Amino acid sequence: MGGREKLYEDLHFPYCDDVVKYEKLDKIGQGTFGEVFRARNRKTRKIVALKKVLMENEKEGFPITALREIKILQQLKHDNIVKLNEICRTKPSACNKFRSTFYLVFDFCEHDLAGLLSNYNVKFSLGEIKKVMQQLLEGLYYIHSSKILHRDMKAANVLITKSGVLKLADFGLARAFSHRNGQPNRYTNRVVTLWYRPPELLLGERNYGPAIDVWGAGCIMAEMWTRTPIMQDKFIQPSKSKEVMNLIFQGSTEQHQLNLISQLCGSITPDVWPGVENLPFFSSMELARNHKRKVKERLKTYVRDPYACDLIDKMLALDPSKRIDSDTALNHDFFWSDPLPCDLGKMLSHHQHSMFEFLAPPRRGRQQQQQQVQQGSNVTTASGSAAATSALQQQQQSSRRGAQQRSSASASVASMSSCPERIF
Ligand SMILES: Nc1ncnc2c1ncn2[C@@H]1O[C@H](COP(=O)(O)OP(=O)(O)OP(=O)(O)O)[C@@H](O)[C@H]1O
Ligand SMILES: [Mg+2]
Repeated sequence: MGGREKLYEDLHFPYCDDVVKYEKLDKIGQGTFGEVFRARNRKTRKIVALKKVLMENEKEGFPITALREIKILQQLKHDNIVKLNEICRTKPSACNKFRSTFYLVFDFCEHDLAGLLSNYNVKFSLGEIKKVMQQLLEGLYYIHSSKILHRDMKAANVLITKSGVLKLADFGLARAFSHRNGQPNRYTNRVVTLWYRPPELLLGERNYGPAIDVWGAGCIMAEMWTRTPIMQDKFIQPSKSKEVMNLIFQGSTEQHQLNLISQLCGSITPDVWPGVENLPFFSSMELARNHKRKVKERLKTYVRDPYACDLIDKMLALDPSKRIDSDTALNHDFFWSDPLPCDLGKMLSHHQHSMFEFLAPPRRGRQQQQQQVQQGSNVTTASGSAAATSALQQQQQSSRRGAQQRSSASASVASMSSCPERIF
């Protein structure tokens, strides 16, 4: 054993239990930063979600992104924010080349919003949509008041328990923000999944704030009715053929995203957004002219409620300084008119199985992305997950992508080495 390995073996992590205290049940998520599993505490039988910290590309020890996520999650305590219970790890041994794998252990939520929206048997009433949005905005209001930006708002990062409590999750890109007495901040603008990325980030703004999360929340709110992300070709240009789309889509993906935003929210000009001309990419991007704002007009076929249309319109204001904030949004008539927000528990009780984006049929052209991620990933699933009776697998069986996942999961079970610690 080399000196470094010996050092690892001797290291003690008094606050990190061995992850063998959990029995891995199913894989429920595959993110940029690792895999997520449903697991059961062997002693208490409590079900949790284990998020594996991806260490493969790390040369400098524990990844800084995961450290940041943990630090922020430890700080946040709110009913609408996912709860981090503890960090666990595998024991270093010859089997894992003396490198521990770390897991974030969360309270388990039965669904994510992307999974729910991709299942057309899940029907939200207006009161239930109000409840979803109210909880989402409560969560945002709390993190923004705690001076945290989420920076990855999207339906897959919104979890919902079987009793209907919404939890904002995935703080992997989150960061603290501050106003440095008039001095502009220089945060990275390469954050937020493209379809939910606001125009100021696409134009290179580095001095941004909570309004970036409100834009994402506005996209999610519209999605509650459209059931598909709104800032994508499929929604904005449904009549255009693939060939025409390829012609339009000549620039960068960011350029294309700005085109889509302009088509829905109107042209980006200093008239509607004073100061936009000073943003880094304002001159280098081709900004479509003469587009009228069509948010309400375009959405009204889906969103019959005029208060809802009005709130979405305000959340999708191009100029971040004019965009409604989460506090004002919570006071909007949408939440205070009939039908009032109502509990989701009853509706969800009709659906016995969990719904996650990872297990759902593709609804957003993400299949290719997902396959790429899977090719590079080393799936290790406990043989216990082969329990064909699991409700999660029932959902997998009913979906095209699910079938793929199942075969890749069983392949990895078959290829597991005899080393018991490979289970985790
Ligand atoms: N506590 C939880 N309970 C149930 N499911 C969860 C939980 N945490 C995460 N998931 C599921 O795992 C998925 C991926 O988790 P998360 O978003 O935290 O990881 P990520 O690697 O940052 O993902 P991405 O990069 O795709 O955004 C979520 O979309 C959700 O479906
Ligand atoms: Mg995520």
